[in-house]
Amino acid sequence: MTNSSQQNNVRVPRRLLVTGGAGFIGSNFVHYWCENYPDDRVVVLDALTYAGNRHTLAALEKRPNFRFVEGNICDRALADRLLQAEKIDTVAHFAAESHVDRSILGPGAFVQTNVVGTFTLLEAFRQHCNTLSFIPPVDGGDRGGVFLHVSTDEVYGSLGPNDPAFTETTPYAPNSPYSASKAGSDHLVRAYHHTYGLPTIITNCSNNYGPYQFPEKLIPLMCINALIGKNLPVYGDGQNVRDWLFVIDHCRALDVVIHRGKPGETYNIGGNNEVKNIDLVKTLCQLMDELAPDLPVRPCSNLISFVKDRPGHDRRYAINSTKLKTQLGWTPSVTVEEGLRKTVAWYLTHRDWWEPLLSEEYQAYYRQVYVS
Ligand code: NAD
Ligand code: TYD
Repeated sequence: MTNSSQQNNVRVPRRLLVTGGAGFIGSNFVHYWCENYPDDRVVVLDALTYAGNRHTLAALEKRPNFRFVEGNICDRALADRLLQAEKIDTVAHFAAESHVDRSILGPGAFVQTNVVGTFTLLEAFRQHCNTLSFIPPVDGGDRGGVFLHVSTDEVYGSLGPNDPAFTETTPYAPNSPYSASKAGSDHLVRAYHHTYGLPTIITNCSNNYGPYQFPEKLIPLMCINALIGKNLPVYGDGQNVRDWLFVIDHCRALDVVIHRGKPGETYNIGGNNEVKNIDLVKTLCQLMDELAPDLPVRPCSNLISFVKDRPGHDRRYAINSTKLKTQLGWTPSVTVEEGLRKTVAWYLTHRDWWEPLLSEEYQAYYRQVYVS
């Protein structure tokens, strides 16, 4: 059955709840969405943990169809209130504890937010759909309401050097408390589609990089340490491989999944850019030498230091995105060289964003991971 909006091919504005919208990928997604779909309502729900930063969204705060709510995804009453009052049709669920090293130090928060928080949102969304006889809107050529769960390639475990890249049917084999908690949440999301018919979709993406990433992750850590003349700590032998995805390309992929993905399906999203950590760090050093006028240490590769490996460190991740490319027509827009150049340039020109994040809490975390 078609409705009039489909016949006229007019897009009906959506009403989104974006969890974790003050974090790295969530905030890039919110900026992307507000720019591309200015008539949509965007409500951000974020607990502002150490990784959440409201300043990142400052430019959007005055927009009439944008709202920021500080709150926890484990708060069921709050989730119920927001879904109903805001008549949400699309949940884009980014909120998570996301750093592997922190999950090794303290896994409890990962189980709480990633598993219990996702369960809480699913229950709230289930009630929202049922009790309000909620019917997802159907846009022109567009599938309607959805619960999009943003997950990770780390649920698939670690690859050997010659193994094929992860596909959507690769068995789950998570190795860290972080990836295990994400795997648990993925299973719940899948079950809510199969059992209750909720329109859920899971995306599993590879390592993202780009603007607004918290300093603890590899790429911002290396850029910032180079700028302040600190060692560039490479874990183990530096031969671990990651498949790097520019965050804006990730947002473009989530756009097509929200609009045209099939409920109950999983889509893998990867940059098709497998790089060894040590090679990535050397490339970053070259870019810093080229782009940063007054580095404390030059060439900054002199700061590279091999440090104790991460326990259980996965050797290689690689994502096969064929399904997303062939079924939904997505392709990445930047090469890893372009993306890294843009990212280094962003950290060089946004010291005001990252400097306040090097707090006492961050220094204490840093000492625990790197100086124990
Ligand atoms: P991030 O750590 O930068 O941001 C997480 C956000 O969630 C923060 O704003 C934080 O305040 C918020 N949050 C944490 N706990 C919360 C809670 N209980 N209630 C409400 N808000 C809470 O993470 P990110 O890198 O932007 O990752 C976003 C999502 O993408 C995560 O689900 C992560 O597992 C997934 N992912 C990330 C990557 C990556 O490379 N960064 C790769 C694959 C998958
Ligand atoms: P990270 O950004 O923590 O992402 P993930 O663990 O989710 O892949 O790390 C990316 C890779 O870089 C990973 O193999 C661990 C390595 N790494 C270092 O060598 N040194 C560091 O200081 C950090 C943070 C990561």
